[in-house]
Amino acid sequence: MASFDFDLHTAATAPAVGRPRDWKWYLHPDAETMSRTVAARLADELRSKRNSLICLATGSSPQRAYELLVAHARAEPNLYDQARWLKLDEWGGLAIDDPASCEHFLRRHLLTPLAVPPERYFGWESQPTDPAAECGRVAAWLAQHGPIDVQVLGLGINGHLGFNEPTSQLQSGPHVANLSPSSLSHSMLLQSKGRVAYGLTLGMDDILRARQILLLVSGPQKAPQLRQLVTGEVSPLFPASLLRCHRAVSVYCDAAAAALIPVGVLQSSFSSSPHNG
Ligand code: GLP
Repeated sequence: MASFDFDLHTAATAPAVGRPRDWKWYLHPDAETMSRTVAARLADELRSKRNSLICLATGSSPQRAYELLVAHARAEPNLYDQARWLKLDEWGGLAIDDPASCEHFLRRHLLTPLAVPPERYFGWESQPTDPAAECGRVAAWLAQHGPIDVQVLGLGINGHLGFNEPTSQLQSGPHVANLSPSSLSHSMLLQSKGRVAYGLTLGMDDILRARQILLLVSGPQKAPQLRQLVTGEVSPLFPASLLRCHRAVSVYCDAAAAALIPVGVLQSSFSSSPHNG
């Protein structure tokens, strides 16, 4: 799908145009199979557009898919030689090499094993002297190099995407986020050596301008959130629901995460996957 102009403020009250039943849903027995499918999908995206700009979430949802993509690169190394990578968000205040930083995660699980050179990766600074200026730097880069071709997302436990936290009014563009208590208890931070002061994130509008969105949801702890995404209202109080303003969303989930979706919705929603393996 082509990118489109997107107004966050009207979107929150507009009828959903990308109804969940119009999305592609891939249900897997477990997270490992799901991750294999996602890795295969990313490789396919690169086959159809070698210099795709792929925006990367961090966290447990995409970790295994990234590892499997790296394993795949050994078999088809040339596939990755034009790919461009972008970091979705970052913990503001942590050192860039803190074991909990999103930068450290991406370098460890994807960028270093793929030997991605600096000119094909762009990411947030984690300790900018002027956070607002850092948001401007990221916005300027995205205006020049975007839109995002493939946006990889995990689903926050409170419905956040990136660090677009639940609020009555979402902020547009790259911005500094006040982190919710649930985000500050994210398991990534268990290994942190520093203190997180705020979040740095692309805005929902940046995410919604992506040509393709891949949402990864696994585990029983995400089952209530996935049900809400499917059956709930479009509201900035549940930022993931704004995905319903986008037509090209692929949801990759496992059986545990899908366990609370009503059976009728489940049967009408799930697609067979060309990437299942
Ligand atoms: C974190 C990150 C998001 C991530 C989400 C889900 O706070 N800011 O980018 O997608 O929460 O994380 P997980 O996949 O570990 O559940």
